[in-house]
Amino acid sequence: MEDLIKKLNKIKKEKKAVILAHIYQLPEIQEVADFIGDSLDLSKKAQKIGNSRNIIVFCGVRFMAETAAILNPNKKIIIPDINAKCPMADMIDLNKLKNIKSKYNNPIIISYINTPAIVKAESTICCTSSNAINVVKSVSHNKDIVFLPDRNLGLYVKKQSGINMDIFDGFCPTHNNFILPQHVLILKKKYPTAEILVHPECRIEVSNLADHVMSTSQICKYVKQSTKRKFIIGTEVGIIYKLKRDNPKKSFFPISSLAICPNMKKITLEKLVDALEKEENIISLSETILERAYYPLKKMLDIPTF
Ligand code: 13P
Ligand code: SF4
Repeated sequence: MEDLIKKLNKIKKEKKAVILAHIYQLPEIQEVADFIGDSLDLSKKAQKIGNSRNIIVFCGVRFMAETAAILNPNKKIIIPDINAKCPMADMIDLNKLKNIKSKYNNPIIISYINTPAIVKAESTICCTSSNAINVVKSVSHNKDIVFLPDRNLGLYVKKQSGINMDIFDGFCPTHNNFILPQHVLILKKKYPTAEILVHPECRIEVSNLADHVMSTSQICKYVKQSTKRKFIIGTEVGIIYKLKRDNPKKSFFPISSLAICPNMKKITLEKLVDALEKEENIISLSETILERAYYPLKKMLDIPTF
C-alpha cells in the first residue's frame, strides 16, 4: 500500500493530475484524494480546476466522470474502472426520454445528475440531491414538469416544494432496497437520542421518519457542526469512514450495513495508479453531447441559492 501511494504521488506530480473522489469511495481512495465531496461539490470543483492540472482522475461512477468532462472539456478525465456505472442512471436512456417527451407539449425535463450524458443533453436543467428543491422551484410552473430518473428523490422534492410534476419510476438499488423503514424504527428505539439523517434516494417512508434529509456532503457538514453525539445514518455505508474520521468523538449507526454501492467499490488504489500511469479509461463524449449537456448543468450551477 505504502509503495503504491508513493508511486501514485510521483505519477500525479509528473502528469499534473488531480484526484477527485466521491464520499462513498473506499477508505484507501478517500485517503489519497485531493478533494472529496458529493455530486454538486465535485461538479463545482471539476469546473474550477485550472491550467496547472492536465488530468482529472475521477474516483466515482461514470455519470460523475462524464459530468466533469462536460464541465471541463479541455481536460483529460480518467475513471479508474470504466465499468463503474450507476444502475439508476442507466434506468433512463434517450429512447425512453424521447417517448416521455412525446406525451407532453414541450415539457420541462429536470434530470437528476445521475443520468447518462446523452440524457442531460436533451434535458432542460439538471439537479443533484443537495439542490433539487431549489432547482424545481426555479423552473416555470406553467408548463408540464417531468422529473427523472429517481422516484424517491422526485417524491421527496414534490412533497417539500408543493410543486406538481410527473416522476419517472427509477430508483437506486442500494438506497431503495436495503434501507427500510422497519430498520429505522428498530434503531430509533435503541438510540432514542440519536438524530436520523438520510439521503433522499431512500424510500419516502424512510425520509418521512428522518430528522433531516440531505445529500452526502450535507450530512458530513451537518454532523461536524452539530452538538449531538449520536447519529443514525441512512445512505451508502462508505460515508461512515469519513464521518468517523472527521468526528472521532461521535457515534454513527448505519440504518443498513448492506447499503453498499458495488459500483463505487470497483475503484481500487491499484486501478487508480494503473489508469493514471497508462492514461487509460478516458471519458470520451462527442462534441455535440459535450455542448448540449453543458447548458442544463450550467443552468443548475447558476442557481445562486445553494
Ligand atoms: P450525493 O450527490 O448526495 O453525493 O449523491 C450521489 C449518489 O449517487 C447517491 O447515491
Ligand atoms: Fe447510483 Fe445508488 Fe450507487 Fe449512488 S449509490 S451511484 S445512486 S447505484
